[in-house]
Amino acid sequence: MNNYIIKNITQLVTCSGFSAKHGQAMSDLGIIENGMVIITGGIISYVGASSEFPVENPENYEIIDATGKAVLPGFIDSHTHFVFGGYREEEFSWRMHGDSYMSIMQRGGGIYNTVRATQAASFEELKAAAKSRLDKMLAMGVTTVEGKSGYGLDKETELKQLRVMQALNAEHPIDIVSTYLGAHAVPKGYSESAYIDFMLKEVLPIIKEEGLAENCDIFCEKGVFSTELSKYFLLEAKKMGFQLKIHADEIVNTGGAELAAEIQALSADHLLQASEKGISALAQSNTVATLLPCTAFSLKEEYAQGRQMIDAGCAVALATDYNPGSCFSSSIPLTIALACIYMKLSPEEAVTALTINAAAALGKEKSIGSIDVGKKGDIIILEYPSYKFLPYHVSMNCVSRTIKSQWHADDTD
Ligand code: NIG
Ligand code: FE
Repeated sequence: MNNYIIKNITQLVTCSGFSAKHGQAMSDLGIIENGMVIITGGIISYVGASSEFPVENPENYEIIDATGKAVLPGFIDSHTHFVFGGYREEEFSWRMHGDSYMSIMQRGGGIYNTVRATQAASFEELKAAAKSRLDKMLAMGVTTVEGKSGYGLDKETELKQLRVMQALNAEHPIDIVSTYLGAHAVPKGYSESAYIDFMLKEVLPIIKEEGLAENCDIFCEKGVFSTELSKYFLLEAKKMGFQLKIHADEIVNTGGAELAAEIQALSADHLLQASEKGISALAQSNTVATLLPCTAFSLKEEYAQGRQMIDAGCAVALATDYNPGSCFSSSIPLTIALACIYMKLSPEEAVTALTINAAAALGKEKSIGSIDVGKKGDIIILEYPSYKFLPYHVSMNCVSRTIKSQWHADDTD
């Protein structure tokens, strides 16, 4: 069904807007009391007061009574690594006993551990595991997810990961936005610059030709990819038509935030160690500051300076960073709770960060991320009458129904 009338909505949280919200604007949720939303052919066709149905054939619509409930745009998880083989539960226990994320990686574990398991897994195995992960995300209200490659490093496995996402995008209700993250670690036997050349010459052209990814990302970090080479790589990818994202200033400050703003990346992600200069560069740019509090939590690191970033005028997004290493959680409820409790975001800012600003972090703010006429009918209905239950019901799923409209260019009704 692609036609819905959702009426008597106690609190309709539209997040209305077609661009990222910076600073104070993040507090404006565009709330309509006793509201109604109509979705026709998968596209939002009415947003406003609950009244008589302004549609021609109400019998073609599923009618949902949302008395006592809040309705919001579907959540957008704009940073995940959800296609991977194997798990790293041993490494998690080592970390709990004092081992560090980077030293495990330097010993050949960490990302390299998952690379081996992902290389060994078949397409079908990866797809089945990823599908069940998507099902859980949908139940938490996620209607669009970004997924990164980066657990192959070699051409064949990177393409396998991206093809799994392409296949799931066609089959699963959640929309998947794919990002090439071949620059996740330097594979054994390569120098950093030789691997960058390999990706630019051997891998990115195929990805472009087959339309396997819209974005290109890099782990810009001390001991992984330098800021200088990250800049060269991303600018070359941009010339090839990719939009840019950066794992920036996660463990050590390397000027990643400044670089993201300079090269007009869609987003700079992590930012635990971003400097004041980096924050102000982001505030003056269109680059979204994407914060991943579940990762800081899982790594027992200090949280990113979310409050300061918003006060400085940044557009902040929140995402889970779901992956088998630094953050084995796709929990939207925990992300919201940590953002509000530890990064001092207000509930309003957290909602903006998971909807319209997350859409902007994917370059999709014109088509998703808010309940506005003309956007996709991606909607969640909460079990409770207010969005304020989202952080308050700590780490619990408040979503009672996710409406993920399927829209195809050839839909006529
Ligand atoms: O975003 N920091 C780099 N990449 C991922 C972790 C990947 C992994 O540990 O497998 C991240 O945290
Ligand atoms: Fe990540």
